[in-house]
Amino acid sequence: MNGKTQYFRDTWAEIDLDALYKNVKTIRDGLPRETKLFAAVKANAYGHGDFQIAQEALKAGAHGLVVALLDEALALRQKGIDAPILVLGLIRPTDASVAARHHISVPAFQMDWLKEASQAMESGDPPLKVHIKCDTGMGRIGLKNEKELKEIEHYINNNDSFELEGIFTHFATADQSEENYYLQQLGAFKKLVSSLETPPEYVHAANSAGALCHNDSMFNAVRVGIAIYGLSTSQERPPHIKGKQVFSLHTAIVHVKKIQPGECIGYGAGYQAKKEEWIATIPVGYADGWLRMLEGQRVIADGHRANIVGRICMDQTMIKLPHYMPVGTKVTLIGGQGSDEFITVEEIAEKLQTINYEVTCTINFRVPRLYKRGSRLLGVDNKLLSEDE
Ligand SMILES: Cc1ncc(COP(=O)(O)O)c(C=O)c1O
Repeated sequence: MNGKTQYFRDTWAEIDLDALYKNVKTIRDGLPRETKLFAAVKANAYGHGDFQIAQEALKAGAHGLVVALLDEALALRQKGIDAPILVLGLIRPTDASVAARHHISVPAFQMDWLKEASQAMESGDPPLKVHIKCDTGMGRIGLKNEKELKEIEHYINNNDSFELEGIFTHFATADQSEENYYLQQLGAFKKLVSSLETPPEYVHAANSAGALCHNDSMFNAVRVGIAIYGLSTSQERPPHIKGKQVFSLHTAIVHVKKIQPGECIGYGAGYQAKKEEWIATIPVGYADGWLRMLEGQRVIADGHRANIVGRICMDQTMIKLPHYMPVGTKVTLIGGQGSDEFITVEEIAEKLQTINYEVTCTINFRVPRLYKRGSRLLGVDNKLLSEDE
């Protein structure tokens, strides 16, 4: 872990690696022994930092990793991760050789794609490991019936460019209490798998909701994302394992002032004080992913509740304090400070009328990530600076 990179702003995300380790281990221990856990670290590990999360998840018992893009997989390889990595999205067939050379597995389900990929492979390349993707009801990518499956399996098994490593599908409704659609998908996938001539090494279908809420969805591998970050899979079907939130977001007061009744705050003069009030400015805004819809949201300032007043600006936000607090006071936007107040990612998602996934993914590269074990700072990842200043 790079512990040297600096940051020069008072807004940061803290990533609790103890919590991540514990979440992965608890989920791993709850799975059948033979079921392999692939940690989903796509989208910079849902905003937590792909390399650091990948390392910790593998230490805690994850067998491999899944990402969305070939670039994400290559970035992990460049940083020294040598565990199995599966790209979930389609790569360009012309990039088959790059994936093969870096031992990165990819999905396959179209004959044309396989033929083009086969042509793109270079002499000396190891076989490209492929997982056949089945569309059993997600409607995104994948083949849909036994005829297509048999053709694809036959082509892969008779072409030295490829190695059939896995077969998988993805559930659309594993997090819902209504089970019919889930059962339909499960049945369709089982039928497809049983029609294979030779079962490959990995057969997988479950995401977090599948792995935590449906014992029948395991096969021999699962792809778990949201749950390893200690976030809930859904309100509708809460899993039996409750993890600890890994992500928190903090900033510090940069300016404090007392305003008089009638004075206004922010663009559009959107907030007007009714009485004398203490107003503080914090250096975070919608350009960080702290979105304008969060106007009115509570934050925690020195353990006390405070509220955002006025419109959120691109880089700054104003809060109304319960009493005077000095410049430098820590303000927590997501997470806690050890007082009774705690702000969950889900609370922010509700305010934004979205899902928890979107919240941590949206806090972007402008916000440095600080990696912690207990209260010990292990390193900083500041995507704005590549070297020590
Ligand atoms: C194909 C696939 N598998 C697994 C996952 C992980 O899902 P979750 O974060 O709900 O565990 C995702 C996430 O979107 C996905 O697209």
